[in-house]
Amino acid sequence: MQNMQNMQNNTIAYVNGEYLPLDKAQISPLDRGFIFGDGVYEVLWVLNGYIFYLEPHIQRLNQSLKQIGMEAPHSLEEWQAILNTLMEKNEQGNFSLYLQVTRGTYPIRKPEFPDITIPTVFIACFPHTPVSKAEFRKGFKARSVSDIRWKYCDIKTTARQAYVLMLQEVKKQGADEGIIIREGLALEGTASNFFIAKDGILMTPPKSDALLSGIVRDVVIALARKNNIQVLEQNISETDLEFADELWTTSSVRGIYPIVEYNGRTLGLGVPGPFWERIWDLYDEECNRLSLSIPH
Ligand code: PDD
Repeated sequence: MQNMQNMQNNTIAYVNGEYLPLDKAQISPLDRGFIFGDGVYEVLWVLNGYIFYLEPHIQRLNQSLKQIGMEAPHSLEEWQAILNTLMEKNEQGNFSLYLQVTRGTYPIRKPEFPDITIPTVFIACFPHTPVSKAEFRKGFKARSVSDIRWKYCDIKTTARQAYVLMLQEVKKQGADEGIIIREGLALEGTASNFFIAKDGILMTPPKSDALLSGIVRDVVIALARKNNIQVLEQNISETDLEFADELWTTSSVRGIYPIVEYNGRTLGLGVPGPFWERIWDLYDEECNRLSLSIPH
């Protein structure tokens, strides 16, 4: 068993208006998030207290809330104020910030929406040390995994059972990430989007209800296009993946994550390729620019 002592995290969390150490935070067992997975969430990357891409994250949160028939509990300005206070209380550290909104608690287990619901808002800060480019250059392994999810994969739902099982399946086979395959098409990672490079062009699957519209995915596409790198948003087959020159995944927490082995087969030269090198630099420059130029 992992030594839980080494894993202690007593950062300050936020629960419905209160700031308190994570081990003192309490939510009712009747919370619909616990009982039904009836809630949505966001994961944001924080460096020295600076929260990257807050606005698009809150926009996506609001979109997820709308899709599950909930109102936004806070405006962008209110979120900003809550998170600024949270960052102050956590001494502007480096975190992955987990923000969850559920449909709240109800005295009995009733699947349909209760008449009155007060959403539960929970925010936790998980210490997260940034990984250097040199460390990433070692590259990672991915494997394909069959899609076992429901139909609304564009909603960032807290009901993550399918993702947990799919990741576990590829982990058992020694991979770091799974690429989800449905009817011959590669859609996304179990906690990431992906890009491939083939014959000098970048490609990523188009937005649809079969994948989460990633914040970093959008940033990468914008940065690439601004720098005259062609990116196509088009369907990618399993075979396209197997014969890609490069494959990397994107997510708020891991950034631009290079895959050098897919289904046991070496990609390209077995090291992260020139597109990864370039996009990693562009993303890094962009994040430095954002976090240095905005007072916080
Ligand atoms: N997940 N697709 C899936 C299924 C994801 O779970 C994630 C991120 C992404 C990438 O989205 P973004 O670029 O906005 O981080 C794509 C987060 C990090 C998580 O659940 O931990």
